[in-house]
Amino acid sequence: AQAEKEGYAHFMLKEIHEQPKAIRDTLSGRLEGNRVVFPDLKLSPTELAAVEKIHIVACGTAYHAGLVGKAAIERLARVPVDVEVASEYRYRDPLLTEKTLVIVISQSGETADTLAALRESQRRGAKVLGIVNVVGSSVAREADDVLFTWAGPEIAVASTKAYTAQLVVLYLFALYLAELRGTLSEAERAGLVAALQALPEQTEAVLGLAETMKGHAESVASATSLFFIGRGLDYAVAQEGSLKLKEISYIHSEAYAAGELKHGTLALIEDGVPVVALATQPNLLDKMVSNITEVKARGARVIALAMTGEAELAKTVDDLILLPPTDPLLAPVLAVVPLQLFAYHAAVARGLDVDKPRNLAKSVTVE
Ligand code: G6P
Repeated sequence: AQAEKEGYAHFMLKEIHEQPKAIRDTLSGRLEGNRVVFPDLKLSPTELAAVEKIHIVACGTAYHAGLVGKAAIERLARVPVDVEVASEYRYRDPLLTEKTLVIVISQSGETADTLAALRESQRRGAKVLGIVNVVGSSVAREADDVLFTWAGPEIAVASTKAYTAQLVVLYLFALYLAELRGTLSEAERAGLVAALQALPEQTEAVLGLAETMKGHAESVASATSLFFIGRGLDYAVAQEGSLKLKEISYIHSEAYAAGELKHGTLALIEDGVPVVALATQPNLLDKMVSNITEVKARGARVIALAMTGEAELAKTVDDLILLPPTDPLLAPVLAVVPLQLFAYHAAVARGLDVDKPRNLAKSVTVE
């Protein structure tokens, strides 16, 4: 197994570092000039253009990718999207018609609840598109259509490269749908395609934050509780960052929509409580700065992640991590990487079995 880790101490660390390649491979063959092409898609352009709503169904990290997918599809293709965890969806009598597209997202393609949600959706007459990493898996075989994430085998229980590859497929799909529906200008599409193509190299650059994130992780390794806050897409990434940390470091953490702090969580902020603030979205920067000021006033120690706004943030937060500039819609890909490294190093600092956290399995094939 040591050989398979190619010199990395853990599979998780290796897989974090494989993300530039996973993103590149997932984009490969799917862009022609400024257009997205899906050579294997069976759903016809006419069927897809007629879709009236989309349900995204998944578990765990794949569910968190779905939250970003909702934003991308709604923003670019203007189709309403609901995202739900599969264990809820399958039992709640969802409202589906033949004009509903169900997208199930799964790294393994074997998660019991996700598979059951797929079958239930088909039984009710909906078409199911799978976004899957494992070729030949149950979801890949049973879905009406599949778009693969080409992340390669993921061994560590905590998912990393599968998540970023899922985001890439969702962005591509949103662009594809937008073109069919005529909801995006040529120039906007060209801008996003160029931004997508820059992601592998930018992700490589973000991996250069490893030592910085190790330092931050070591500084929180004995904390009893942490908060991740953000708005919009940053809230989606906050949820994934919090899950990563909980899964492998066993430190309690919560992700909060920053605007909701005042409705409860602010009561938990006291001297020295670490808060990871995501502020990558330029249109929400001012709002984030005021939320950060609120937690700072109660004694929080704030580590912020941003793309712009250095001047405003630098004087408010304790530590500022700047990400390479991209289209705000794509920021989750770059923002999650430091959070993965943060979780990883927190677990290592606590002497834990990073690749095989207690009580958890890579693939949950029973209910
Ligand atoms: C398990 C894994 C998670 C994963 C989730 C969904 O809980 O530990 O890392 O996100 O299952 O798995 P899937 O294979 O369906 O993406």
